[in-house]
Amino acid sequence: MMETERILLRPWRESDAGALYKYASDPEVGMRAGWPPHQSVDESLDVIKTAFNNDTTWAIVLKATGEAIGAMGYMPEWEMDLPKRANEPLVGYWVGRPYWNRGICTEALRLMLGHIGQKGVYRSLIGSHYVDNPASGRVMEKCGFVPTGDIGFDEELPNGERKPMRVLRLESLL
Ligand SMILES: CC(C)(COP(=O)(O)OP(=O)(O)OC[C@H]1O[C@@H](n2cnc3c(N)ncnc32)[C@H](O)[C@@H]1OP(=O)(O)O)[C@@H](O)C(=O)NCCC(=O)NCCS
Repeated sequence: MMETERILLRPWRESDAGALYKYASDPEVGMRAGWPPHQSVDESLDVIKTAFNNDTTWAIVLKATGEAIGAMGYMPEWEMDLPKRANEPLVGYWVGRPYWNRGICTEALRLMLGHIGQKGVYRSLIGSHYVDNPASGRVMEKCGFVPTGDIGFDEELPNGERKPMRVLRLESLL
């Protein structure tokens, strides 16, 4: 577990399914990150049991309420059309819409970067965001990521669209 005064990063729990559905059913969240909005609490529970069931994905929990309000993580192995280096994880995150623009994602990413840095396994990290979602790029830039100048492409969105992505990298983790 990692924490600041305001938030915790901890593994997802099955009991977070209701909160996950509340925030991940909002199309404004998932569609900006490349996944379709959750359709039911059962679907959210399934995501907790599968996609979130690993040791590189955390719930962002607001200490004041104890509620999971977002997700923070990195993928050591991933496939996307981006200029990947060897042994370079991809970072990913989202925050529930009521909590946007309060610095929460930046705080959570900084926490995770501290954790990854301590592991001493990775030299750099890569991140990307849709060109029309600048807030995500801002989060990475505030944490030291620098745009590479590359434009990558995600897999098809649920609506069949393939949207361009701006690529950023955090150097010198070791
Ligand atoms: C992107 C996201 C995670 C940011 O979370 P957050 O907790 O609001 O982030 P922070 O408050 O730490 O930082 C947001 C920054 O973006 C800026 N921002 C917000 N909207 C913006 C816009 N339209 N254009 C440019 N910057 C914008 C904010 O001003 C802030 O920067 P500042 O501190 O320099 O003012 C959140 O909006 C989200 O979950 N979006 C949907 C899912 C998503 O996009 N995930 C990332 C996929 S790559």
